[in-house]
Amino acid sequence: MTRRTLAVVSAGLSQPSSTRLLADQLAAAARDELVRRGAEVEINTVDLREHAHDVVNHLLTGFPPAALRAALDTVAGADGLIAVTPIFNASYSGLFKSFFDVVEKEALADRPVLIGATGGTARHSLALEHAVRPMFTYLRAVVLPTAVFAAPEDWAGDGADRALRSRIRRAGIELAEQVDRRPAATGPADPFALTTSFEDLLAGRDPA
Ligand SMILES: Cc1cc2nc3c(=O)[nH]c(=O)nc-3n(C[C@H](O)[C@H](O)[C@H](O)COP(=O)(O)O)c2cc1C
Repeated sequence: MTRRTLAVVSAGLSQPSSTRLLADQLAAAARDELVRRGAEVEINTVDLREHAHDVVNHLLTGFPPAALRAALDTVAGADGLIAVTPIFNASYSGLFKSFFDVVEKEALADRPVLIGATGGTARHSLALEHAVRPMFTYLRAVVLPTAVFAAPEDWAGDGADRALRSRIRRAGIELAEQVDRRPAATGPADPFALTTSFEDLLAGRDPA
């Protein structure tokens, strides 16, 4: 049985958070489809409100405190990423952007990413397409076709939520498909790993 890891990043600030709720439901949909395909799935969630101060410290000093380092490794080492932000001023929130500003270059290259957002009005759902999707495309991630936006009325439970639930299911299946067709992730790259053997180093040999 292949072991797969999903990293879930939620930038919701409220407690409880609708952004976190959406992130959890997307993760559950992707997990269900991966399990159906025979995988064993581990879900690791990063709640950015817990790392807000550390993200700013990292931006100022260039070094991540230990808890943020672990969160960055979770994201860099996963088979698939679910990234969900509240919409602030018709775009991703500042915390969401700042976190991905400190994710190592190339960490998301070829990584399947499912994007989602919550907002006060469905009129701003396209922020996913004009802000969130281009950011991950710039980071060379594989952004899935279905992006999931949830407005307050989508949680109403009077039937309006049916459309949201089917979108979540579709997005989860898309993420599972992309994860399934790739080899299992080997974890985050070690920036201090030797690129040549000790013997070559001692002998002054350059393998390149
Ligand atoms: C500073 C601020 C700006 C916001 N701007 C927008 C906006 O432009 N469009 C929108 O639909 N909702 C906007 N909202 C509403 C939030 O996106 C919405 O409440 C979100 O679902 C909260 O997520 P949470 O429950 O995870 O904290 C804004 C909220 C705040 C606090």
